[in-house]
Amino acid sequence: MKLTSFEKIVMRSLGRKLMMKHVEAPKLFNGLSKGQFKRVLELGCGAGIGTIHILRSLEPAELVATDYDEDMLPHARRFVDHNWRRPGVTFQRVDATHLPFADNEFDAVIAFGVLHHIHEYRKAVGEIARVLKNGGAFLLEEVTREAHFWPISRLMVPAVLLEDKDVIEVLEANRFSVSWKGRYLRAFLLLDCRKLA
Ligand SMILES: C[S@@+](CC[C@H](N)C(=O)[O-])C[C@H]1O[C@@H](n2cnc3c(N)ncnc32)[C@H](O)[C@@H]1O
Repeated sequence: MKLTSFEKIVMRSLGRKLMMKHVEAPKLFNGLSKGQFKRVLELGCGAGIGTIHILRSLEPAELVATDYDEDMLPHARRFVDHNWRRPGVTFQRVDATHLPFADNEFDAVIAFGVLHHIHEYRKAVGEIARVLKNGGAFLLEEVTREAHFWPISRLMVPAVLLEDKDVIEVLEANRFSVSWKGRYLRAFLLLDCRKLA
């Protein structure tokens, strides 16, 4: 599902950059090392703010940054070009519910705030499991139902707002084991999951 105009402004804002830099990326990537994941897929890269932190924190040999909305990809490409001078990053329009990749292609899949924009989020998680290698990591940040009570959420249009248990349930149904769970500002869930062999 595409973002509203308001959401697109938020995704490119200074506030989004600060949250990613000081909260989301440090929490989600804590304990992971540079070069640990060789080939990485980012889903719903938006304006590329998470993309830069994946590159800086994890330094994969190859990162495929993707989004469903073709309007977001030029923003992401420009932001990454300004902030990362090394090769190994490509951009691609991709629908998370129909990933155009082979089985077991990636060492990690990363999605910041994406599942709640996808009506068929169960199908997307199935696709993520399919393209990940056994033992591969699915690192995600998700906005949960708690956000529904925030006034600003009236300006956002999620496809679904899940509770923690809904997210965990769909992950476990797709053979993921949660190895770390965190949260911030009550409504935001962070998970590091591994695909079981
Ligand atoms: C809330 S934004 C998050 C953007 C970025 N990850 C960030 O954290 O700043 C969600 C993104 O998911 C994308 N998206 C929505 N539905 C999608 C789908 N079916 N497949 C892939 N990306 C999708 C949207 O276009 C949007 O860029």
